Amino acid sequence: MKLSPGSIQPLKPLRQPKNSGFDTVAPFYDSLSRLVFGNSLRQAQLAHLRAIPARARILLIGGGSGWLLEKLLQLQPSLTVTYLEASPKMLQMAQARLAKNQALATAPVTFRLGTEDALQPGETFDVILTPFLLDLFPDQRLRPLLDRLYQTLTSGGSWLFSDFCPVQLPPPLWQRLLLQSMYTFFGLLSGVEARALPDFEQHFARLQLQEERAASFYGGMVQAKVYRKV
Ligand SMILES: C[S@@+](CC[C@H](N)C(=O)[O-])C[C@H]1O[C@@H](n2cnc3c(N)ncnc32)[C@H](O)[C@@H]1O
Repeated sequence: MKLSPGSIQPLKPLRQPKNSGFDTVAPFYDSLSRLVFGNSLRQAQLAHLRAIPARARILLIGGGSGWLLEKLLQLQPSLTVTYLEASPKMLQMAQARLAKNQALATAPVTFRLGTEDALQPGETFDVILTPFLLDLFPDQRLRPLLDRLYQTLTSGGSWLFSDFCPVQLPPPLWQRLLLQSMYTFFGLLSGVEARALPDFEQHFARLQLQEERAASFYGGMVQAKVYRKV
């Protein structure tokens, strides 16, 4: 295109940042989650927070609007947190939420926009939290994501997993129908690539992470686990 002198070509982003599709649902994601699951998804994410040691360095990836970050710091103010979020809107909401909370506004939290690709070489954490993140990816994408997170976890460190992970296999019909409709909904609105739940057990077994605690929620459709890197 030929530009006349003095005119400025508008800079169009070539494409959306990777995995930023939750921007579309950010304004209503929390309400929708409560409407469908009541408090269950929150309870799962809170279940094992007390297992986190004081002064630990935390990676919270895919934390969404920031409500879990707030709870985490209320429980354990001495933590240092890296909050890694792919959706700019979700990240803004989390930042605003913390800024509004006078007691936590100066907490040592680094807000970082991006995916696991935004982790720095050599960066390590004592605890990693992946709250309802890992179900978004098909196996071929999940595998490198898990490998990258595993690399950043210190030896003896904990991985707090909370996700849709049916206790009963194969899952009962109501769970399969609910999962199917969620994948359709978030596939259309947020570009979620997966079409079915991954086999989490197999993925974590491959990484040789030791399961230390487990709790189930929402009729066994959701689990919260603590894994340790040995
Ligand atoms: C299903 S939502 C869960 C949000 C929150 N954990 C909750 O349960 O309320 C998944 C979140 O992960 C974020 N996300 C998706 N892929 C990501 C990635 N590769 N790295 C970081 N965040 C990601 C999305 O933007 C979204 O906020």
